[in-house]
Amino acid sequence: MKIAFFDTKPYDRPAFEKYGKENGLDIRFFETRLTEETAALAEGCEVVCVFVNDTVNAAVIDRLYAAGVKLIALRSAGYNNVDVRHAFGKIHVVHVPAYSPYSVAEHAMALLLTSVRRIHKAYNRTREFNFSLNGLTGFDLHGKTVGVIGTGKIGMIFADICRGFGMRVLAYDRFPKPDSGIEYAELDEVLKESDIISLHCPLTEETRHMIDDRAIGLMKKGVVLINTSRGALVDAEALLNGIKERKIGAACLDVYEEEADIFFNDLSGHIMSDDVLARLISMPNVIVTSHQAFLTEEALNNIAETTVNNILSYFRSDGICDNELCYRCGHIEECRRERRQRCF
Ligand code: NAI
Repeated sequence: MKIAFFDTKPYDRPAFEKYGKENGLDIRFFETRLTEETAALAEGCEVVCVFVNDTVNAAVIDRLYAAGVKLIALRSAGYNNVDVRHAFGKIHVVHVPAYSPYSVAEHAMALLLTSVRRIHKAYNRTREFNFSLNGLTGFDLHGKTVGVIGTGKIGMIFADICRGFGMRVLAYDRFPKPDSGIEYAELDEVLKESDIISLHCPLTEETRHMIDDRAIGLMKKGVVLINTSRGALVDAEALLNGIKERKIGAACLDVYEEEADIFFNDLSGHIMSDDVLARLISMPNVIVTSHQAFLTEEALNNIAETTVNNILSYFRSDGICDNELCYRCGHIEECRRERRQRCF
């Protein structure tokens, strides 16, 4: 079985080579991202394997379908970059629903601690033998209220970590989990009451720009905003204004709305063309990591193992894969997989 693997990075290869070889898969690694222009590389392959910044829109799906591709195997949890509605009936889509929710939740806490205790500044100072403490005053997390938006796998673990620090956790979820021991409130209340807000919900039409001027207007002065979910949950210009107006005390961003052509690349020798990102990075109270929250040994192994298993189970005679998804998945009324085990 031939697999076209797009947007390959050096850290992807070892685990995929290992699990691919063990299972007799012929994986063709391409460094380029999947786009309308590069879709032709999948010619002769039954599967394309993609990540978060590959484009899997209607035009790309049509090209892949015409090339005989049967399966799109996402090596990510989020699938907002795939037009699942358009793929329905043509190409099956599978994803990796969980590979290490700990990796992302722990990264969110790492960003928060770095920000509030000014570790990034202290690190740079002591490397130059500057041992001054001026400007490094932080604040205790203990006793603060953290607003967790989205209490799925990652949000729940982040909430647990925060409780370990003695913080009060207040959460908003479109589908609250009863008996989870989590204190839920309406979104506006969470925005108003939280000293720290961390986003852990998926990007959908409903959640796009959920953090906009209005939402920022409701927040406490000095709030710390953490986004390890998807960039477009936050209106980046509104965030920048909130920082300039001193409303947002700090921002910790692992994702950015326009990250697709920027993140995962070494652009250190280039002029940054994205003014909003350049301005955000120039702020002393903004920390940006380039979509690295998932990047742990454990997660990379789980991603490769699950993706290979997804591919194998799809091509087995029954063709049933627990991790298949489509635009109907999760909608109880419409979800065929819940009744007949396959999306189509
Ligand atoms: P999950 O599916 O377990 O949880 C998502 C939660 O969000 C669910 O409880 C769901 O009910 C809730 N939700 C759905 N719509 C909502 C809305 N409109 N408002 C509030 N809550 C809503 O997902 P998981 O595994 O916890 O991942 C969360 C997100 O983290 C993913 O969607 C993905 O975008 C992001 N992620 C980021 C990574 C990174 O490297 N930075 C790696 C992996 C995931």
